[in-house]
Amino acid sequence: MKKIALAFISLSLSFIVYAGGNPDHVKYPEGYQTEFTKYDTRNRANGKQVAVLYANKVATDTAASGKLGDGAKIIMEVYKTVPGEDGKPTVGEDGLFNKGKFAAVAVMEKRSNWDVSFDAKERAGDWGFAIYKTDGTVKDNKLDCASCHLPMPDNDYMFSHSSLIEFAK
Ligand code: HEC
Repeated sequence: MKKIALAFISLSLSFIVYAGGNPDHVKYPEGYQTEFTKYDTRNRANGKQVAVLYANKVATDTAASGKLGDGAKIIMEVYKTVPGEDGKPTVGEDGLFNKGKFAAVAVMEKRSNWDVSFDAKERAGDWGFAIYKTDGTVKDNKLDCASCHLPMPDNDYMFSHSSLIEFAK
């Protein structure tokens, strides 16, 4: 009986579609490429990707205070790298990995009034998260977005907080 119950549970779980973050609430910001400001390009900490970072006006206007304002949006475009013969990412003169295929668009949006149905455990402070394919449709992803960002309350839960502040000066 126990076995049957377990089999049923794992079968049910396999039908759940995972989305990274909460795309029902944290929407893809159409037109961010022209409306937002590009504030940094960096090799990702995972050593396998390049991140191009954009911030909306609320974010650039409020960054200097250390805590970003309500309505701030940060976008991370994720690119693959171009591997060399040794399989490692090739690096350009600027020290950045050469950008390969455009792979995903990760979004963080800050709001003090997120809907109650959006579990606070899935946020970092007032930041909600979502990840999209490059065409703006939802990307399946099993990552618990908030988990890596949560330990950084002093940086407003952002890895690139200092870059944004530096840029906004
Ligand atoms: C394994 C840890 C980890 C998880 C899980 C994670 N992130 Fe991040 N995130 C990072 C790191 C590290 C950076 C800084 C860029 C880099 O070096 O990769 C970052 C940067 C970002 C940025 C740019 C703003 C910033 O903090 O600098 C956004 C937007 C973002 N992540 C969204 C997401 C979304 C959406 C998810 C869930 C789909 C997610 N993250 C899950 C580690 C993580």
